[in-house]
Amino acid sequence: MEDLKIVQTASWVPDQVIDNDDLSRIMDTSDDWIQSRTGIKRRHISKHENTADLASKTGQLLLEKSGWQAEELDLILVATMSPDAYTPSTAAIVQGRLQAKNAVAFDVSAACSGFVYGLAVASQMMSTGMVKKAMVIGSEVLSKLIDWHDRTTAVLFGDGAGGVLLEKVPVKAPTLLGLQLKTFGELSNELSAGMTSSGNTFPKPLTELTPFKMNGRAVYRFATHEVPESILQASAQNKLTLDQIDVFLLHQANARIIRQVAKRLKQPLEKFPINIAEYGNTSAASEPILLDECVEKGMIKRGDILALSGFGGGLTTGTIILRY
Ligand code: ACO
Repeated sequence: MEDLKIVQTASWVPDQVIDNDDLSRIMDTSDDWIQSRTGIKRRHISKHENTADLASKTGQLLLEKSGWQAEELDLILVATMSPDAYTPSTAAIVQGRLQAKNAVAFDVSAACSGFVYGLAVASQMMSTGMVKKAMVIGSEVLSKLIDWHDRTTAVLFGDGAGGVLLEKVPVKAPTLLGLQLKTFGELSNELSAGMTSSGNTFPKPLTELTPFKMNGRAVYRFATHEVPESILQASAQNKLTLDQIDVFLLHQANARIIRQVAKRLKQPLEKFPINIAEYGNTSAASEPILLDECVEKGMIKRGDILALSGFGGGLTTGTIILRY
């Protein structure tokens, strides 16, 4: 039997760190408010690097750490809601920079669920035999979409990238144990960024993109209800009990949401690593950054069963359960 294996993890964040006090000097907010409502202390904010730069750096690290050659890759996916451009895709830029000339490359757009959606696409392309070796990266420079006068969104987000190498290998037992994706398009207005104007702008110049807009309370309610539902549905596919899952790697949007999900699932909080204090919400990058940290710290070991679960713009949810 063959199934997919996470061969390698890596992550990369910009050098510049902006803490809550830095923000309170430019807007009416406070370290106390931000920490108590979200769990965030600081975030990395890019000075010059764009999304493809962070993704390429992560891709280079993945190759260096694993010893894989770029030409071995069949697929490069970048999950992002802050691409460098409408075209080329961020993944195509990464493919060019890595000189991964045998890899097909494209972006996946599902906001903070993007990394799970990317893993889902890669796993399905691997199951058909079309792809044997894949690189899946979540990369975001959300700071370019932020209105730094809007305290309701500006304090929440950060920049960064993380990713994995996947390979289809012979296994004794299946490694892909559950997969659930869901999209709630009727709620698309609850969270948006980068909206363009409709209609013909001739002969006016190009208009600017809109910054982040979010109905925070609605997204909070959505997440605390739909994330547990998504995890339950994914685990039911192969009759896994939640107790059999070793680590829950949830999208890092708000520490309160993660605690609430753990409570609803009746699982101990120790199984839910949280690193939002250091990074803020990095959207599609949050789960691969967390996964890489947990692997590097030895908190995740070979054989562990992982549930990666995201939620975000779309609105979307997604859970994938994998044996590491
Ligand atoms: N500093 C100080 N005060 C603030 C700030 C701030 N940064 N932001 C809002 N406030 C004020 C509000 O104006 C409000 O004041 P008022 O009572 O006088 O009107 C008060 O604080 C409470 O505001 P709420 O919005 O009710 O605060 P809440 O407790 O709901 O927390 C938050 C807001 C943190 C945004 C929360 O709703 C949340 O986390 N929602 C989920 C958001 C999320 O997960 N988004 C990511 C989706 S992923 C993606 O796709 C990118």
